[in-house]
Amino acid sequence: MEVKLKSKPDNVLLGCVAAVCFCTVCWAQRLCTVPPGPVTIPENNTADVQVVKIISSSDVSMSVAVNPDDLFYIRGNILMVKRGLDYESLLSPTLVVWVRCSRAGARTVNESVEVLVENMNDNPPNFAQNHYVLDLNELLPVNSSVGLIEATDVDSEPLYYRLEPATDKYFRLENINTPRILVRSLLDYDVVQKISLLLHVQDTFNGSASDEPFFTSVATITVHVKDVDNRPPWFQPCLRANLGNAKLCVSSGYRGKVNLTEKEEGPLVLEPGPVFARDGDKNRSEQISYKILRGNEGNIFQIDEETGNITMTKAVDIVGPIILTVLASQVTNRDQFAVTQVTFDVMKKSRNPPRFERERYEGFIYTSSIPESMILRDRSTNRPFRVRARDEDFAGGVNPDMKYEVQYSSYVNVTSEGFVILKRVVKTESFALQVRAVDSTTGEFGTAALSVQVLPAIASPSPSNVGYRPGDMALLGLVMAALLVLCLIVIGFLISRLWKGKASFDKICEVSFHQRKCVI
Ligand SMILES: *[C@@H]1O[C@H](CO)[C@@H](O)[C@H](O)[C@H]1NC(C)=O
Ligand SMILES: *[C@@H]1O[C@H](CO)[C@@H](O)[C@H](O)[C@H]1NC(C)=O
Ligand SMILES: *[C@@H]1O[C@H](CO)[C@@H](O)[C@H](O)[C@H]1NC(C)=O
Ligand SMILES: *[C@@H]1O[C@H](CO)[C@@H](O)[C@H](O)[C@H]1NC(C)=O
Ligand SMILES: *[C@@H]1O[C@H](CO)[C@@H](O)[C@H](O)[C@H]1NC(C)=O
Repeated sequence: MEVKLKSKPDNVLLGCVAAVCFCTVCWAQRLCTVPPGPVTIPENNTADVQVVKIISSSDVSMSVAVNPDDLFYIRGNILMVKRGLDYESLLSPTLVVWVRCSRAGARTVNESVEVLVENMNDNPPNFAQNHYVLDLNELLPVNSSVGLIEATDVDSEPLYYRLEPATDKYFRLENINTPRILVRSLLDYDVVQKISLLLHVQDTFNGSASDEPFFTSVATITVHVKDVDNRPPWFQPCLRANLGNAKLCVSSGYRGKVNLTEKEEGPLVLEPGPVFARDGDKNRSEQISYKILRGNEGNIFQIDEETGNITMTKAVDIVGPIILTVLASQVTNRDQFAVTQVTFDVMKKSRNPPRFERERYEGFIYTSSIPESMILRDRSTNRPFRVRARDEDFAGGVNPDMKYEVQYSSYVNVTSEGFVILKRVVKTESFALQVRAVDSTTGEFGTAALSVQVLPAIASPSPSNVGYRPGDMALLGLVMAALLVLCLIVIGFLISRLWKGKASFDKICEVSFHQRKCVI
């Protein structure tokens, strides 16, 4: 330990002496001096630019010993750049140039100069293509990404992007530096099939506001929207409706007629048209097939799978209506389907039209009769007039589908029971009209003539004479109530007698007799 401690000062002293000697030698040999630190030169400089001035005495001659890319030369005692530097094409931004200094009778020395090439914004941003085409399915969720279209710029990051039109309804950029195109609102093929956009890029945020050079570039984007299979077949005709973003079209079904015990040949005629469904996706028009799901008891009907035409395999032997549930589904995607109803009314064959009991009728009315009064049957009584038609196709002549109609008169109307009702006050002496009895299922009808005589007002019992006044009704009610009370008293009295056990069967008869007499 002691030895080592002792020896240290000797070593330090020795080192110092050596250094001083060495430095003196260096000093003596230093021909050129280069200012310390790297020299910065911006790229895209003009040719023949000074890099650095080398300090030396005038008898020292200099040359470039190591000249990267042959870019440098010496003019006098100045290191120069021959031509514009390009930061982007250099392997390293730092270039080391060696300058050789020599003087007669002295040792030649080399000095290094570090040149730092500074990057300038001298290149535009570039898109790989001028034009981009995006094929998208409709109805992509909002905020989903449809593509990232980036430009490259050898100088600067980040780049600044902007979509045009900026107010585009359907797309937006993720942010100003990320050109990821996002869905802004739902694309519906029925509404939009093609969208054109411009994507601008700029290498400086607000280039025009500063003196710095800046570059821009632009790419066009065409978006094609594809119709996806999102809708089922729609039976035609149908009523359109919107449910949120969904579109529906609702059919109200089909209706047809068949005759009882008759087999029709060929496709049955339906209202409002033949069974027909079309794909709800406008542009897809998927093939559709038809099927009867329910209601086809006894397989009377069959549907053409391709056309939807319904035909009969045999006659109908039941009274209708017959309701078929018909399915239309896409051949390639059975999950897309629609269901509707086809209703067949079963018609009984009519052999006879409705016929009035008489060909001509006569009725009466008063000039004083108010609207809603009934036409009367004769002069002397107030019995209402009535027409009746029979249909011999039906037992008892009563066709439930028969309706009466009035023709050629605005004075009266006819009720479904055949009573003729005045519609307005009549001033003429008489009027005539025709009544029709129409079978609403077959359209067959019978007619009869009716002439109505209008009688002077005197004989007419006015409606107030016919009816009872409120006072009369009250009196009647009172009398009835009194009678009821009397009856109850008599019944009570008789029952009490029965309870005494003396009453015989005869007596019971007598009681009931009395009671009835009392009620009457
Ligand atoms: C680069 O130099 C050329 C001429 O050498 C000049 O036209 C151009 O504007 C320069 N670019 C920049 C960004 O300084
Ligand atoms: C879409 O993204 C924006 C911004 O990130 C957000 O405000 C919005 O709620 C998102 N919309 C949906 C439907 O996710
Ligand atoms: C039913 O009968 C009527 C009258 O005979 C005829 O006009 C009609 O075409 C028939 N309809 C059917 C579906 O057979
Ligand atoms: C289906 O019916 C329509 C009329 O309803 C007719 O024009 C068409 O030819 C029919 N098709 C077939 C295959 O019977
Ligand atoms: C006649 O009466 C029928 C009902 O019985 C009614 O449906 C019809 O509209 C009436 N016609 C006129 C013209 O008042």
